[in-house]
Amino acid sequence: MLTSSMNAVHCFVSVLVCVSYAQSLERFIAAVYEHAVILPDSTQTPVTKQEALELMNRNIDILENATKAAAQQGAHLIVTPEDGIYGWQFNRETISPYLEDIPDPDMNWIPCNDPKRFGPAPVQTRLSCMAKDNSIYVVANMGDKKNCNISEAGCPNDGQYNYNTAVVYDSEGKLVARYHKQHLFLGEIQFNAPKEAEVVSFDTPFGRFGIFICFDILFYDPAVALVVDRNVDTILFPTAWMNVLPHLSAIEFHSAWAMGMGVNLLSSNTHSTSKRMTGSGIFSPENVGPYYYNMDTEDGHLVISELNAHPRNSSTYYSIKWNQHASTIKKYSPGTNVFKGSIFFDRFTFTELKEPEGNYTICQNDLCCHLNYKKAGYGKNKQNNEIYVLGAFDGLHVVEGQYYLQVCTLLKCLSSDLNTCGESVETASTKFKQFTLSGSFSTNYVFPEVLLNNVNLAPNLFKVMSDGRLVSKPAIATHPLLSVTLFGRLYDKDPVN
Ligand SMILES: *[C@@H]1O[C@H](CO)[C@@H](O)[C@H](O)[C@H]1NC(C)=O
Ligand SMILES: *[C@@H]1O[C@H](CO)[C@@H](O)[C@H](O)[C@H]1NC(C)=O
Ligand SMILES: *[C@@H]1O[C@H](CO)[C@@H](O)[C@H](O)[C@H]1NC(C)=O
Ligand SMILES: *[C@@H]1O[C@H](CO)[C@@H](O)[C@H](O)[C@H]1NC(C)=O
Repeated sequence: MLTSSMNAVHCFVSVLVCVSYAQSLERFIAAVYEHAVILPDSTQTPVTKQEALELMNRNIDILENATKAAAQQGAHLIVTPEDGIYGWQFNRETISPYLEDIPDPDMNWIPCNDPKRFGPAPVQTRLSCMAKDNSIYVVANMGDKKNCNISEAGCPNDGQYNYNTAVVYDSEGKLVARYHKQHLFLGEIQFNAPKEAEVVSFDTPFGRFGIFICFDILFYDPAVALVVDRNVDTILFPTAWMNVLPHLSAIEFHSAWAMGMGVNLLSSNTHSTSKRMTGSGIFSPENVGPYYYNMDTEDGHLVISELNAHPRNSSTYYSIKWNQHASTIKKYSPGTNVFKGSIFFDRFTFTELKEPEGNYTICQNDLCCHLNYKKAGYGKNKQNNEIYVLGAFDGLHVVEGQYYLQVCTLLKCLSSDLNTCGESVETASTKFKQFTLSGSFSTNYVFPEVLLNNVNLAPNLFKVMSDGRLVSKPAIATHPLLSVTLFGRLYDKDPVN
């Protein structure tokens, strides 16, 4: 009796294991939707709950259409952007009618089947039904509220915490993840940050997922912790990202983060050209795209791509020794025209690339950056008057957030006036036959960026070697170059809170 019942249990477990193996996928199809959010009227007076819901429903109608289209094309999962349901122009009072109380995913709740279980939840119910009706995972961003006792430390005067929140519903409509944004950006006065960073991950038949929001990507917790401690395969990344060239345009930095961390990153941006918000993509360690970047229309756009469910199995990226090459070579000359200039308020040391080809080393504090390059087209074409510099920065960035950087960069100056080096540039005509960039980084967290004319990424046009060199491939020679950057983060040197 005892033996046979143990056998029965054993068989039962085996069946479960078999089923879960059968369903586990090596590859999956992901979708991200860049959404031109319909904004509420700018007002200092709160609207009614009904008016708030009407606006949110208009946005969800569009997200639902995108979700249907993604599901029809076989997508397992879709990510929609931060602020994609109600926009961003709020204070604490005016955001209030847009918020819902979002329960813990441990509650095992399918809002579509049981909408009233935790009180009114019309937005959560629609998102859950969107997932269930289309048999697809849905990632969305909305506002969560939690009552607190105003006599408790930290509880706001209005007696509730408001959170900028990412939610994930599985293909049966069940809430499987809830994440409260940690690093609020300037001006997000309507929201509170949780007391401690929430590290949220969940497992699916197509790998382990982690989630964080927008500005979080610049910091250690929870973004890097998800990769280092939780071993996630894919990051879900709703964002409302304002592009800042030369180093922090959405597609540029987000693709570089995926590569530097050795994970997939599904980045869904809001679309608002007046706010310089565009740039969404499906990024993996081996591939910078497909992506969408468009400053010419006000339309939303769906991006779909197939991905490796376990990129870290095959990725060589997280074994890169970023300073190995730089620390073994002899320094080159700094050149004859070394000067200081600013990139996004950071004081870089620059040297002008005066020759058609050459080797330069430029240093600042503990960081030395080495460049070997050869421009294309000399001899045949006339030399244009575009100026390129090599730059180094090792210091604390202090504007719009504080974070410690080590950066090596090759970039085009805005004009032939050297004072413009480091300003935002979108076009170039100079091509490089080849380049190799490396730096003596004192961090393992370095994000490789290559940007081409008109803010295009450079898929299959460069690679990163295990000794930390960023090296062009031959086909780069037909593409005018804006910038090449190794963007290093020294999280240990960040100020504490
Ligand atoms: C959704 O798609 C349907 C069918 O293509 C279309 O008629 C409708 O206008 C779309 N709705 C929105 C809000 O885009
Ligand atoms: C709030 O906290 C105070 C002090 O701990 C307590 O006396 C009071 O009962 C609490 N109020 C509520 C509504 O829980
Ligand atoms: C790939 O990664 C998954 C999840 O981490 C693991 O279960 C699997 O054994 C790995 N496969 C190989 C071939 O390493
Ligand atoms: C640059 O350095 C490499 C190796 O250090 C050398 O082979 C090459 O000739 C140098 N190029 C120039 C233009 O000095």
